[in-house]
Amino acid sequence: MAKPLKIVLLGAGNVGFHLGKKLNEVGVEIVQIFSRKKTNAKRLAKIVGSDFTKNITEISTKANLYIIAVPDNAIPKVAASLSEIIPSSKLVVHTSGATPSTILSPYFKSFGIFYPLQTFSIDREIDFDNIPICVDSNLKKHRILLEQLGKRISKNVHLINDKERAILHVAAVLVNNFSNNLFTIGEKITKKEKLPFDILKPLIQETVLKIENHSPHDMQTGPAKRGDKKTIERHLKYLKKNFPEFVELYEVMTNSIYSNFRK
Ligand SMILES: NC(=O)c1ccc[n+]([C@@H]2O[C@H](COP(=O)([O-])OP(=O)(O)OC[C@H]3O[C@@H](n4cnc5c(N)ncnc54)[C@H](OP(=O)(O)O)[C@@H]3O)[C@@H](O)[C@H]2O)c1
Repeated sequence: MAKPLKIVLLGAGNVGFHLGKKLNEVGVEIVQIFSRKKTNAKRLAKIVGSDFTKNITEISTKANLYIIAVPDNAIPKVAASLSEIIPSSKLVVHTSGATPSTILSPYFKSFGIFYPLQTFSIDREIDFDNIPICVDSNLKKHRILLEQLGKRISKNVHLINDKERAILHVAAVLVNNFSNNLFTIGEKITKKEKLPFDILKPLIQETVLKIENHSPHDMQTGPAKRGDKKTIERHLKYLKKNFPEFVELYEVMTNSIYSNFRK
């Protein structure tokens, strides 16, 4: 019989926090949480009933899966420090969409990915049920193990290789990070003009609901799609006067819509 899974989670930020909580909820044993700040490690450890540490040199060797959920640029450093503590045969994965799994290959014989394709913020509850969990590993037996683990927390588990995941991440940044930045700009504009941002929320919601059953291309509306040049000029005039920093963005987005509808 396969050994029961025991996990060490390195990172108690947006992803680490929610992933740790969910894994614990479904009965997966988390033996230890690592975070640089003791308070962060302790907060999650208290919820999942595990040990915790702020020193990577004190990482437990008792786990059979190590999940690294730290910012992308810190992954190599954390992996290097971890490799000095645990045997190189242990399975180590990271949760990054943009980072190849092979970044772990100099340090470990078995490595992989456990990437939840969703936006996580520590203070916002999240339902894992339909979150796409993208998994991969250099070893088939670990691909299976990670798929099985994914299925314990979500109905939406995919085997996705490094190349596919990197491409998905480009699209994810465009649809999520960039849209959210546009919402932020909308909020800035309404705030300056003392208008309620809430008045835009049904529009934002409908934008997303519409594409549930339609291609976003087919759902595009607005002056750029219609070719309403006068309206665009008025918008640019307002922005030049009040928010010159957003003029270029407005022009780039307008041109992008033009080119998507060029016959
Ligand atoms: N946030 C998302 O929506 C999302 C979604 C999918 C995948 N991901 C991926 O998941 C990973 C974690 O993202 P996140 O948003 O959870 O990041 P985060 O909230 O910034 O993660 C912070 C965690 O990493 C630790 N940390 C920060 N810098 C470190 C360093 N230089 N060395 C060691 N530990 C460090 C923090 O420790 P202290 O806070 O205690 O200092 C904390 O435990 C990233 O690879 C990211 O690409 C993120």
